[in-house]
Order: sequence, then C-alpha cells, then structure tokens
Amino acid sequence: MFIALHVAVSALLVALVYWHISAYNTRNRYTHIPSFPIPISWKWIGGHLPLIAKRRRQLGGHRIKNFAMILDWIRKDLDVNTMVLFVANRQMMYTIHVPISAKVLSDHRTFMKPGARESKIAYVNGERVFGDHGIIMEPGTEVWYHKRKMMDPAFQKKYLKCLMEDMKTITNKMCHVLEQKTDQKIIDIYSLLNKVALEIICTCGFSLRDDFVMLEESELNKAVTDMLEIIPLSLRESLTFWMPWKFNQEKKRLKEANSLLRGTVRKILEARIETHSENPDASPNDILGHIIRANMFSGNISIEDLLDDFVVFLAAGMETTAITMSCLIWHILKQPEISQKIVAEINEVYGGKEELEFEDLNKLIYLEQCLKECLRLHPPIQLSFRRSPNRDVIVDHLLIPRETTIVMSTEAIQQLETHWSNPDKFDPERFAPGKKIQPFTYSPFSAGPRQCIGKHFAIMEAKVVLAALFQKFQLYDPYPEETKLEKVTNMTCKPKDGVFIGIQQ
Ligand code: HEM
Repeated sequence: MFIALHVAVSALLVALVYWHISAYNTRNRYTHIPSFPIPISWKWIGGHLPLIAKRRRQLGGHRIKNFAMILDWIRKDLDVNTMVLFVANRQMMYTIHVPISAKVLSDHRTFMKPGARESKIAYVNGERVFGDHGIIMEPGTEVWYHKRKMMDPAFQKKYLKCLMEDMKTITNKMCHVLEQKTDQKIIDIYSLLNKVALEIICTCGFSLRDDFVMLEESELNKAVTDMLEIIPLSLRESLTFWMPWKFNQEKKRLKEANSLLRGTVRKILEARIETHSENPDASPNDILGHIIRANMFSGNISIEDLLDDFVVFLAAGMETTAITMSCLIWHILKQPEISQKIVAEINEVYGGKEELEFEDLNKLIYLEQCLKECLRLHPPIQLSFRRSPNRDVIVDHLLIPRETTIVMSTEAIQQLETHWSNPDKFDPERFAPGKKIQPFTYSPFSAGPRQCIGKHFAIMEAKVVLAALFQKFQLYDPYPEETKLEKVTNMTCKPKDGVFIGIQQ
C-alpha cells in the first residue's frame, strides 16, 4: 500500500516537473510577443488561468468570462494590438492588427481552423453536437474544399431568387402575428424574429414547413438557443463541466436540444435521400435538394456528416440574422431621421405594390447601408479562430510560433479609431455608394475563402423581412431614455434582454 502510494506520488511529481519544464520551454518561444507576467509558482501549470479568473471576479461573476472581455483587457491594460495568453496547455495569440488578421484569414492553407475536436465542440458531454467534419469547423483543406464546392451553388444569388417566395410567405405570417399584437403595444421583436429566421432557414434549407412564427413557444427555437448557450458554457467551465454533480440542468437541456435537432434533421435527410433515389425530379428545390443533387455527381458524404452541416445551418442561420435585424430596428427607432429615410425608400420601392420582387431588393440601397453599419457595430459572431502550422511563420514582421491558436476580433477591428472616425456612432453614410472601406477592416461575415457561405442569404432575408415590417407598421421606440443596447456573448453576441418596440398598424 505504502509502496503504491509512494509510486503514485512520485509519478505525479515527475508529471508536474515535466509539465513545468515543457510549459517553460514553450513559453520561451513567445517572449517577443507582449503578455502579462506569469509568476514562477504553481501558476505555471495553469498559465494565465488564475489571472483570467481574477479578472472575471473583478468584473463581477464567474460566467462573465468571454474573449471580448479579454480583448478589452489587452487594449486597456497593455495598449497593444497583439498579445499572447497561456491558457492551461494552449497558447492563444489575440490580435486586432489588421495586416495580421488579413494574412491569416486569406491564407487558409497555412492558417487552418482549429477543428471541432480541438475546439471541443465536436462532442460535448458525450453528445455529437457539431461533429468532426461539419463545414464550419473542418480544418483539412481537402474535405472542406469538397464540401464548400458542393454547397456554394445553393447560396449563389441566382439560386437565392427561387427562395424569395418562401421568405415572403413567412414574412407575411410575421405581419399577421404583429397585426394581432397591436393592442399589446410593446413587444419583444428579437424573440419574434428568432422564430422568423428559424422558419426561413428550415423552409429554405430543407422544406421543413412548420408554423414556428405563429407559435408562442417553439421547441426547435428553444433547442437552437439552448445549444448556442450551453456549448460555450462547457468551454468556459471546461475544468468543472465534466464533473457528474455539476451543471446537471444544463447537461439535461443540451441532451434534449441536441436529440430534438439531430432527430428532426435526420428524419428529413433520410426521407429525402430515399425520395431522391426513387425519383430525382421529385426532390424539392431547397438547399438540401441542391446539395443532394451535387453529391450524386461529386462523390460521397455520409448522412452523419451531412447532419452536422444542417445542424450548423440551423445554428449559424437563426440567431445571427435575428440579431442583425433586431439590433438594426433598435438603432433605426433611436434615430428618427434615419427611420424617415428608410421608410421613404421602402415606400418608393414598393410603389403601390403589395409585395416586393427579387429584383426590387437591389433598389433598397439605404436599407443595405444600414444593415452593413449594424453589422459593423454588432457583429453577431465576434471572433475568428485559426491555427498556425507546425512551423514558425512570419507575418507582418511578427514571428508566430508553431501551433499557436490565433484569435481575431471582428468587433474590435470594426471599431478601431485608426480606421473608423467616431467609431461608436451608428452612421450608415460610411457605406454610401462610392465610399471606400479599407480591406479587412470590415468583415462581419469573416474574410477570405472561409468567409460565411450564407452571407447573401442573410442579407436577402433581412431586406425582405425589414422592408415588409417598415412598410406595413408604424414602429416607435418605447424606451427613448435607454441609450445603450445591452448584449450578452455566448456563441453569438445577442441582445441581453431582447429588443422592445412599440407598434401601431
Ligand atoms: C447575419 C448573419 C450571419 C453572420 C453575421 C454570419 C457570420 C459568419 C462568420 C463570421 C463566419 C466565419 C467564421 C470564421 O471565420 O471562423 C461564418 C461562417 C459560416 N456561416 Fe455564417 N453568418 C450569418 C448567417 C449565416 C446563414 C444564414 C447561414 C446558413 C444558411 C450561415 C452559414 C455559415 C457556414 C456554413 C459557415 C462556414 C463556412 C466555411 O467555413 O466554409 N451563416 N458565418
């Protein structure tokens, strides 16, 4: 017994010494990049974790930690544009330096995505959530390139035109719901737009025609929201999340959400693949239809992998677009001169018609300017992660050591005073026709080959929904004294308590 204990303690000590030495060696490769000091004590093992924990406590809560907070910290305390933090055994280089971000995002062969497994979102608590090879996380260029080539046509403008009717039908349902609510005066438009965005992505994505918009509570809506909330929690609390007595409620909610999402999508995929093999012409002309047809010609992709992609479409397509539309409504109602200009443009484009045509969307120039400005101030996805290869690389005179996780903040770059005058102001004139934006200073959909596949889809959806909303209803700001939109960051950065608007018919 005594010998066994002796051996175990010795082994632990050897492991600690080994970890200590290897951490010391690794960290020595980063001495040229600004950082906070790590005292030579047990803290070497956790790197900056104790410092981050202290910062979280100072900010008033253990759940507050997020990367935006860390970036804020870098800018204020160190006043640099690139720094490194050691988080347990990982080296994270945070940057808001445009030339570095530009190179890293453009060169997807050198700087790959970290991958779902490494990012710990392939499986959470034993559940396959985003899987290993979903398009959004896939690090390998070959697999990703094959998928992207297969999916790209389904998101091109030419094809999006076919989705216009579905988007309009769902928008009309939303207007119907709002007509019923005019007596309630004040409503949370963010919650309604989440359902609108979900119904649009489900209908256009795989012809799941369910009246999410009409429901008070939608289970699928809740499932996506839960996933986007609990997965980041499992990362933030990575040291304790796995413990069987911790976060039981959250684990249960994640399990239910995941099985509802994957179960719903799986049934649709299986039924569709069967229909397609029996009669390819009967397959609906939605995004799934496009992908299945392409897959028949360009090789095989397993149903589980396809499932990962569609779960990603739901997750990536719902909250992001709802956030953008709601934040924009909030800004528009705060600035009456902008509101008048938007309504005038929309009325002119409608020109007495009941509904807009696809071609009309290009005429909504000022609305598009406002959308772009909203995405500058409120990018729903704030960060992009990439990884340096297994060799050191020099970018803009900075040596990035091998196997470094590089974290780039879209939000911070889009609000740098060096590139944007009066950056906190909502000013759609920045995007007026003819105005030039410096490359890589504005990338709410990311940049380079791995940029968002759904960006035209999202802009089209936002235009269809917002144009109808402002054309059919008179909206007003019920809380003019509030000057700041409170947000919360999980996987997306969204309005903390919704967005409340007053509505008159
Ligand atoms: C306002 C709405 C949206 C915003 C702001 C947004 C933002 C982004 C960003 C920033 C990325 C890249 C992340 C990175 O570099 O690591 C991304 C990727 C992606 N987005 Fe979106 N997105 C939006 C809507 C959508 C929609 C509607 C869909 C699907 C229908 C979608 C599907 C995807 C996919 C599949 C990727 C991965 C692309 C790849 O790696 O090749 N997104 N999105």
